[in-house]
Amino acid sequence: MSEAAEAVPTVLVVAVALVDPDGRVLIAKRPEGKQLAGLWEFPGGKVEPGERPEAALIRELKEELGIDVNEACLAPFVFTSHAYDSFHLLMPLYLCRRWSGVVTAREHAGLAWVKPNKLSDYPMPPADEPLVAWLRDLL
Ligand code: CDP
Repeated sequence: MSEAAEAVPTVLVVAVALVDPDGRVLIAKRPEGKQLAGLWEFPGGKVEPGERPEAALIRELKEELGIDVNEACLAPFVFTSHAYDSFHLLMPLYLCRRWSGVVTAREHAGLAWVKPNKLSDYPMPPADEPLVAWLRDLL
């Protein structure tokens, strides 16, 4: 491997599977103008330097979806990683069944509540795809 390839940064992104009382999971469509536009992702975002992952997730869910999540409800249940061209992604997926506020698409092009066995109908970023099988088995 060349030195340039080794210099690709590793980025920590936290993501969430919000699960509603009917057992459906929220996915969100990435908007035009962003990398991977049009693909359906588990909501979340980058952990800033010095930020605790759980704090980053709480911040991102407020910014992206307008909801408040209690830190006590957050526990990572599976990690995924993917080598994108310009960075290596490490992404824990948290599961969350309780929040306050109404889920609203503030930054995404759309939202969908989907039964776990239907998640594979939605095209996802490569990092998110392996999470679908975990959710199907868990929920
Ligand atoms: O969405 P944006 O590109 O503004 O940044 P982000 O939410 O902080 O996520 C950083 C990068 O992680 C995205 O550009 C995606 O490449 C990747 N990502 C992903 O693969 N799957 C997710 N569920 C969230 C982010």
